[in-house]
Amino acid sequence: MIYLDNAATTPVADEVLQAMMPYYSQVYGNPSSVHASGRQAKGAIERAREQVASAINAKPNEIVFTSGGTEADNAAIIGTALGYRDRGKHLITTKIEHHAVLHAFEYLEEIGYEVTYIAPESDGIVRVEAIEQAMREDTILISVMAVNNETGAIQPIAEIGELAKRKSVLFHTDAVQAVGLLELDVERMSIDLLSISGHKLHGPKGVGALFVRRGTHWKPTQHGGAQEFNRRAGTENLPGIVGLGVAIERAAGSREASWEHLQALRETMLSALRAGVDQLVVNSAPDSVPSILNLTIPGVSAERLLMNLDMLGIMAASGSACTSGSLLPSHVLMAMGLAEQSVRAAVRFSFSGQNTREEVAEAAQKVVQVVERLSRR
Ligand SMILES: Cc1ncc(COP(=O)(O)O)c(C=O)c1O
Repeated sequence: MIYLDNAATTPVADEVLQAMMPYYSQVYGNPSSVHASGRQAKGAIERAREQVASAINAKPNEIVFTSGGTEADNAAIIGTALGYRDRGKHLITTKIEHHAVLHAFEYLEEIGYEVTYIAPESDGIVRVEAIEQAMREDTILISVMAVNNETGAIQPIAEIGELAKRKSVLFHTDAVQAVGLLELDVERMSIDLLSISGHKLHGPKGVGALFVRRGTHWKPTQHGGAQEFNRRAGTENLPGIVGLGVAIERAAGSREASWEHLQALRETMLSALRAGVDQLVVNSAPDSVPSILNLTIPGVSAERLLMNLDMLGIMAASGSACTSGSLLPSHVLMAMGLAEQSVRAAVRFSFSGQNTREEVAEAAQKVVQVVERLSRR
């Protein structure tokens, strides 16, 4: 099997799994309990909080653990809208966000907020000028992802942060696909809220984190116990949080080496496909993150290509994993202005540090063979 769908999820790294194991059956106290086992569990959570904070240059008390990227996005957006509703009801985001962001904004529209959705240029990148033009007196939040999960396009988050700061508006970024690839510094980039997910960085599924800058009048959206300093109720996912801490420390610590390796993988795939497939169209901008390669092979439907590759043991995707069972064409590629036919033919190969050049070369060779066969029909 050759797994090239790492933007959907990644395998848990051995080191991460080893770090998590004791917290299932040895140190299993409730972190809120005051006895020794509870204190030990609490200590492990606080260590993980430091690991997450350190990866993005935040303070540990600015990190809230969540059940993943989706909850972090929802909490960031809805929590800010509630906290600042007396100041204004206008919010700005983009048309290329993950559904965890888009659907949270749609919910806010249903309850009386106004949202402006900015389109990217044809390269999949949103321009800071377009955001500035959309700003109003009553704008309270700008939310723009750091890296797009379908194309890998890197968004100008430092410039957007600077704009938001100048205009005294809050800035949230969904950094789920950026951790371990881009340098993320919430101070230097003037980021007020940032979402993280464990399973995209060789950590476990069902755990994530939200950075909330101190002093932000953000309102928690989950109510119950006093966990996470009254910011996220519910008994903590102890092994998951420990795993996220180790995973993010590994990812942030190997960022440069990992970028180089991924670049070599993308180059291996691209050069083989360019040589073997006529009229190959690359939908990812040239300076996208090297982990994601979005392509269109004109005349070959993504569905048939992916099905044939799956039968040969090669796993890739037609876009975001959350929309792959749906018949709707990708909202990201449509927003970039691609024709619907090209969007329906788009495939995404996404790499991780665990992929080798040899397996990517083998996968590329099989793609060429399948495309040849399908085009002959
Ligand atoms: C950009 C982006 N945001 C949010 C999410 C949701 O994260 P999770 O699966 O942890 O809920 C994903 C994962 O698909 C993603 O790629």
